[in-house]
Amino acid sequence: CGIVGYIGTKKASDILVDGLKKLEYRGYDSAGIAVLDKDILVYKQPGKVINLEQSIDDKVDGITTGIAHTRWATHGEPTQENAHPHKSNNGEIVIVHNGIIENYKFLKDELIDHGFSFLGQTDTEVLVNYIQFVQDKEKLNIEDAVKKALQNVNGAYAIAVLDKKEPNKMVVTRKGSPLAIGLTETNDEFYVASDAIPIIEYTQSLVYLNDDEIVVLERGKKMKVTDIYGVEKSYKVKNLDLNLDKVSKGDYEHYMLKEIFEQPSTIKNTLFSHLNTENSDIHFENLDELKEKLVKAKRIIIVSCGTSWHAGIVGEYIIEELARIPVEVEYASEFRYRNPIITKDDIVMAISQSGETADTLAALRYSKAQGATTFCICNVFNSSMARECDFTAYTYAGAEIGVASTKAFTAQVAVVSLLAIQLGLERNEISQEKANALVKEIKTIPSVVNQIFATDDHIKTVAKNYTETTSFLFLGRGINFPIALEGALKLKEISYIHAEGYPAAEMKHGPIAMIEESLPTVIIATNNEYYDKLVSNAQEVKARKGPIVAVVNDDDNEMIDTADYVFKVPRVSDMLQPIVSVIPLQLFSYHVAVLKGCNVDQPRNLAKSVTVE
Ligand code: G6P
Repeated sequence: CGIVGYIGTKKASDILVDGLKKLEYRGYDSAGIAVLDKDILVYKQPGKVINLEQSIDDKVDGITTGIAHTRWATHGEPTQENAHPHKSNNGEIVIVHNGIIENYKFLKDELIDHGFSFLGQTDTEVLVNYIQFVQDKEKLNIEDAVKKALQNVNGAYAIAVLDKKEPNKMVVTRKGSPLAIGLTETNDEFYVASDAIPIIEYTQSLVYLNDDEIVVLERGKKMKVTDIYGVEKSYKVKNLDLNLDKVSKGDYEHYMLKEIFEQPSTIKNTLFSHLNTENSDIHFENLDELKEKLVKAKRIIIVSCGTSWHAGIVGEYIIEELARIPVEVEYASEFRYRNPIITKDDIVMAISQSGETADTLAALRYSKAQGATTFCICNVFNSSMARECDFTAYTYAGAEIGVASTKAFTAQVAVVSLLAIQLGLERNEISQEKANALVKEIKTIPSVVNQIFATDDHIKTVAKNYTETTSFLFLGRGINFPIALEGALKLKEISYIHAEGYPAAEMKHGPIAMIEESLPTVIIATNNEYYDKLVSNAQEVKARKGPIVAVVNDDDNEMIDTADYVFKVPRVSDMLQPIVSVIPLQLFSYHVAVLKGCNVDQPRNLAKSVTVE
């Protein structure tokens, strides 16, 4: 799930291991490095990077070229054999790979026919041997062998390749999986990584490769980019202004907790980046040409995955309510494959923290090819989605390291809320007064969120009752329905407790059958035109002996009598309630998971950025 590479003047293994640690947040189950001078030395271990670090001996001293990888198992279990890097049969080529080679079976059969053998089950081992096969057959140097081999490869990849015969070179290329290259002024050092975080300590000058672009990194030579057919490509160097402090845990025990507590400032940054400082008008930078299309859109289709999909549903409720544009929210993975009807009048909006999720990116590309206008709400500057879609509205949540998304979600909701207000105004669906009032109120949200943190100890105390619970139901209505989904997702992601989110009224169509003393129900009953109906739903749960935890407003007087425990949040307008209601649920999941002894920042099997489909 993460790649790091270094060719330069310093001890490579230190930079590689350190880089892998910085990519740990992306999720993985084994790790490895290969360094090269006269010979290729490979170290790899299942489990955490620390296991790998302990296995590295002093043979790596003085070696200044290497590649590294954290693997999230796709083909084959997370064993030492299947961990990357992988060497070719002749022991001369070594590779790290993110992604999936789809026609690996076909290539493997061809290689077996030619006498190749395989140690593990991975598609990557097939790829490195296929490169060797092409190199041997056509007597090619390493970059030409990689280019030629990739012409016959289907799938997604980001790879870094070393060849013992050409120890002064590293070949790097991508298709579908992200890859950044860090440059230095003298060209005597190059850094490679799946994202900027492992590189920024050394250089802030980054080049993000596009699909099918390939580079040869050679000490002392300016980097040249071509495509896999050898056609030279121009590239832009981005000068980042990222600060490492911002991606450290600070005094917090976990990134997730830090990120939850950062929300007053991340929501504020996001809001104020899209509000004119003088008059508080909403503005989206560079939207000008597209604004008319957006205002006149017949339909907005939101595509996303995971937590970002929940932000999409909040977007559906708020955009339809304020701007009266029909909105459809789709799982990107379903949308891209079901021959959806897309017209030129449609706006397809991706919501993605990373801007790299494979299914969301593919859905955007598909929509663009069908003539739709593409828009993305994204947290990572210059990510693949930001580069490829017609317009990007950034969330300014800063790097999100915890696998379970928290601050990115509230920033996404902040952006869709501003967008809905702006569209409502431009389409004359809401008055200037109403827009002003909503903007005025949304500016108070950061301090409202801050107030909720005063209840953290209480939330932790409540959490103590549920460490042995095996299943939870989450219910919400209206704009709080996606918050029920998000509350359930947070809990299952990090505590491994089964949890389902449901629209409260749907409870009667199934989940009510499960209700008993051992199944707690979390009801989001904050300011909502359906409050009375939620109270009735709570009664129905109680009548069947189901325990209830409710998220309520400070001044609640009915639910509080029915629920076993309540989490209080300040009352804000219905449309703005989701950002507020989600906070106690984030904290609740966090505390349950920590009390259960789970690794909240790197939950098992999950990846932060899912760049394979
Ligand atoms: C993974 C992450 C989730 C995230 C989802 C979508 O599943 O673990 O936290 O919500 O991907 O990611 P994106 O970067 O597109 O928002």
